[in-house]
Amino acid sequence: MRERLVAGNWKMHGSLAGNPALIEAIKAGAARQAGVECAICVPFPYLAQAAGLLQGTEVALGAQNASEHAQGAFTGEVSAAMLADFGCRYVLVGHSERRQLYGEGDGQVAGKFAAVLAAGMTPVLCVGETLEERDAGRTEATVARQLDAVLAKSGRGAFATAVVAYEPVWAIGTGRTASPGEAQAVHAFLRQRVLAETRILYGGSVKPGNAEALFAQRDVDGGLIGGAALVAADFLAILAAAARRKE
Ligand code: PGA
Repeated sequence: MRERLVAGNWKMHGSLAGNPALIEAIKAGAARQAGVECAICVPFPYLAQAAGLLQGTEVALGAQNASEHAQGAFTGEVSAAMLADFGCRYVLVGHSERRQLYGEGDGQVAGKFAAVLAAGMTPVLCVGETLEERDAGRTEATVARQLDAVLAKSGRGAFATAVVAYEPVWAIGTGRTASPGEAQAVHAFLRQRVLAETRILYGGSVKPGNAEALFAQRDVDGGLIGGAALVAADFLAILAAAARRKE
């Protein structure tokens, strides 16, 4: 059985003064949700603070990006080993905002994925099509291309631990979400390329009101949550929806 995972992607939000209240609320609520792993992926400068606050709890710490390089003259970059130093368990790689706004290509994302694995952490590989690609009937081709670049470098076996997040670009931060059926269709397609035990998350405008129907799908093993992860009550309601899922 695949353990469900609900991960918050804080993106570029948070503050030293404001983070403790959100993290304390998540800690308190997450402890009550049996059978669901909870993680928060915070901005780099808050890793130390979040690690301290999460110490001794079941809530996992994650980051949102890592360099594909181990070390060296890469001004402004953060290596996977540095993230491991702070106790990160998860690292997002290839989020669509990284691909679209910072020009990360499939090969670079594959390098980041391998670097995260090599540092002993779990990569969360984000894949997803734009609206243009969906309308052109290229959803499967797009996510296959994104996934295959990683498979070519790290192999299928890497997905015994690595996580995939299907995030249709048109659903991120737009309030428009894939229908449960649309999500399931892509998840089932992705599942054929990874392993039966690989956790495949759905992301893109997951909210308390739509989480349960999405998580009820056979190949949806949890969620990657953006905006709703910044509101403790919403994030906890989404966790509770994952916990209610029937096997
Ligand atoms: P959203 O973001 O939940 O705000 O749509 C999801 C993500 O980008 O990971």
